[in-house]
Amino acid sequence: MQANAIHNATVVGAGLMGADIGVVLALAGIAVTLVDIDSNRLELAEARMRASLDALGEFELIAPEQADAAMTHVDGTLDRAAAVSQTDFVVESVPEYLALKQEVFAALDAEAPPAAILTSNTSSLSISALAAATRRPDRVVGSHFILPGTVLPLVEVVRGDGTSDDTMQATYDLWRRAGKQPVKVQQDIPGFIHNRLQHALSREAIALWASGVATAEEIDAVVVNGFGLRLARVGPLAQRDLGGMAMNVTIATTLYPSLSNLADAPQAMKDLLAQGAVGLEARRGFRDWGDADPRVTRREVERTLLADLLHRQRTEE
Ligand SMILES: NC(=O)c1ccc[n+]([C@@H]2O[C@H](COP(=O)([O-])OP(=O)(O)OC[C@H]3O[C@@H](n4cnc5c(N)ncnc54)[C@H](O)[C@@H]3O)[C@@H](O)[C@H]2O)c1
Repeated sequence: MQANAIHNATVVGAGLMGADIGVVLALAGIAVTLVDIDSNRLELAEARMRASLDALGEFELIAPEQADAAMTHVDGTLDRAAAVSQTDFVVESVPEYLALKQEVFAALDAEAPPAAILTSNTSSLSISALAAATRRPDRVVGSHFILPGTVLPLVEVVRGDGTSDDTMQATYDLWRRAGKQPVKVQQDIPGFIHNRLQHALSREAIALWASGVATAEEIDAVVVNGFGLRLARVGPLAQRDLGGMAMNVTIATTLYPSLSNLADAPQAMKDLLAQGAVGLEARRGFRDWGDADPRVTRREVERTLLADLLHRQRTEE
């Protein structure tokens, strides 16, 4: 299957991510059917898709007619077997439980055409373990999106042990065609690349906070007003090249021994959890969120990202 032969797709699991992936596919002119086990979730997904399209339009990342056209490509159903019976490409986005995903993959394998590619949006599970539930491991591949999936350009295309080169390429090409910036991850490692890097940074941030070096606000400010700005343009390896390898070796030699190498969830985080400081929903976590409305706060973060993306697009034109 080549990417330009993919004309219709099915997204199984119409939650936060499923809705976002539906928008991405629909904007690429691909007919998308969203499947869920709960009709309320299908309705919520439609509302989220419309809101995402409105936001993309408001920030001029798509034209108004593109937003209107996109929704005409979208359908929703509870009947998975019927939805996938003629499909070219399935994106699985059900909750992150291995047994559930394996059950869904086994069913998809039985119900979808033999040539169809089955891709999972899992953030942490093994692609090979999902492929093992099917008789087509060569056509099973990861497509890890980053929330909000309509905004952040990255998709990690993850190779399982049995994934064929054709499947990797077709999936990569499809996301390119949909305007994303996919990256091929050639080994099925926990956390792929994105979450490994993200959590390496947060492990150190938590260790600094727990040892009282600075407040949570100050630690976040160091990233947001410091290397975080640069990271959006210059990746960590390019930055090492800019600095030069002699300096990198010196710094690594003196610094790495004192960095956190904890091999478990930090006790500080477990303590917060035990105290009910679960994060934004409780308005208490590492930071005190006062009387913030979680929905409004998340929307504000999304709008900041959209504004940055628009700026980036304009400066690259
Ligand atoms: N939320 C994130 O930040 C994020 C980021 C990247 C990847 N992911 C991954 O995306 C996947 C989905 O996450 P989410 O945040 O969208 O979850 P979610 O809970 O918002 O959505 C999951 C949806 O799947 C539906 N569902 C459950 N069982 C089903 C079944 N058997 N068939 C069809 N639908 C079923 C649920 O009703 C729900 O609507 C997970 O694998 C998650 O790890 C999430």
